[in-house]
Amino acid sequence: MSNKLVLAILISGNGSNLQSIIDAIESDQLNAEIRAVVSNNPEAYGLTRARKHGIETQVIDHRNYDDGSQYDQALQQFLEALAPDIIVLAGFMRILGVELVNAFANQILNIHPSLLPDYKGLNTHQRALDNEESKHGVSIHLVTPALDDGPILLQGSYTIEPGDSAEDLQKKGHHLEHQMYPQVLRWLAEGRIIIDKGRVLNDQLPLETPLQFSA
Ligand code: GRF
Repeated sequence: MSNKLVLAILISGNGSNLQSIIDAIESDQLNAEIRAVVSNNPEAYGLTRARKHGIETQVIDHRNYDDGSQYDQALQQFLEALAPDIIVLAGFMRILGVELVNAFANQILNIHPSLLPDYKGLNTHQRALDNEESKHGVSIHLVTPALDDGPILLQGSYTIEPGDSAEDLQKKGHHLEHQMYPQVLRWLAEGRIIIDKGRVLNDQLPLETPLQFSA
């Protein structure tokens, strides 16, 4: 049993995670509707992906706003009218302000290319290589006002092999990401994961440590 999950997906670029969610919906692996894809970047290839599948797109270009808070207000207005269950950040390269995050508390998810809390921020692959890590990965977490800091729902990890480049790690990460985002959204649709007042429940029990992805 699952309820249809209404999604807004926010992107800035390629949109391969968006594509994996579209594919999961179209192949009946995920009971969800993408009500709109929003981008701050009019050139984002993800917009083309969405249009190819008849999904509404909206560009809210940050360059048309004086500051971040005005931008956030415009985004908030659009999202409120859309009324999604979940706002999916999928490569959205802007930091959301406190007001916007609080307006959609418990509803915003992000995918981050590291095993949080390690390697918050950008360039995680190169930083992991520089530190000679043997493992890296991907985290899907609830967005809270602090950057890359909310409760983690699901993590997936991979081995860093000798000679791997940052690009190699990115590829390994993407391979996981494309399975992990549809998985988390499926669990939400099925009620296996519930987000309530900043807490994540898994099968009715508080999630103490992130779920581990296995393909
Ligand atoms: C992903 O690697 C994700 O971890 C990060 O941004 C990237 C987006 O990739 N937050 P894509 O646009 O979905 O291809």
